[in-house]
Amino acid sequence: MERLQKVIAQSGVCSRRKAEEWIQEGKVRVNGVVVTTLGTQVRPQDEIEVMGKILEKEELVYFLLNKPRGVVCTAKDEKGRKTVVDLIPTGKRIYPVGRLDYDTTGALLLTNDGAFSNLILHPSSHVEKVYVAKLSKPLSKEAIFQLKRGVLCDGVTVRADRVKVRKIHSDGTCIVEITIHDGRNHQVKKMFEAVGVLVDKLKRERIAFLTVDHLKSGESRPLNRKEVHQLYALANQKEKE
Ligand code: URA
Repeated sequence: MERLQKVIAQSGVCSRRKAEEWIQEGKVRVNGVVVTTLGTQVRPQDEIEVMGKILEKEELVYFLLNKPRGVVCTAKDEKGRKTVVDLIPTGKRIYPVGRLDYDTTGALLLTNDGAFSNLILHPSSHVEKVYVAKLSKPLSKEAIFQLKRGVLCDGVTVRADRVKVRKIHSDGTCIVEITIHDGRNHQVKKMFEAVGVLVDKLKRERIAFLTVDHLKSGESRPLNRKEVHQLYALANQKEKE
């Protein structure tokens, strides 16, 4: 289910604000009935008519991007900076599924499928994300234990499913792999901060079964149908657990 004004805006006929105006002015019908309530939920199979014209459903698209450093993770930036959407060769109104920080690199999904995005981002969806972090100092056994047991992040306890030290450098910095299920803003940095370590560099290596191994920095590829189905199945299945 999606909000009516969002579905109209996503079809490309107008902005969300304009869609809201038209709904309130009685210019929108759902399955033949005028709807004037903002936020009315519609299903994919509902027929939406805007100013007498049946809305053509936009083809749903899904991309995997290897996000470079120095690009903002939003559809439009007020400061005019380059966004992740600028890197995807599509005319469709896509947006990122969740956030990677300005200085974080790696795997990022983008789509115009709101239902998919909601499902993947839902706190109970449990799609696994694997990050590799360069840390300012070695990670003690106690810190690893704490990360797995749970640390406070914005007042909520979050846990790492796995933490693995990959490398310890002679200057004291180290490379650590951390796997999490949820996706709060700045979560990985905050988790390490909670155990007294700063993150110098961060890359998301994997989302579920998707890696960016074959994509150069800034490159993207469309997901195939099987991958989209697999992601839907994974998110749905975990949600029921
Ligand atoms: N956690 C962070 O701290 N930053 C990101 O970009 C992603 C996860």
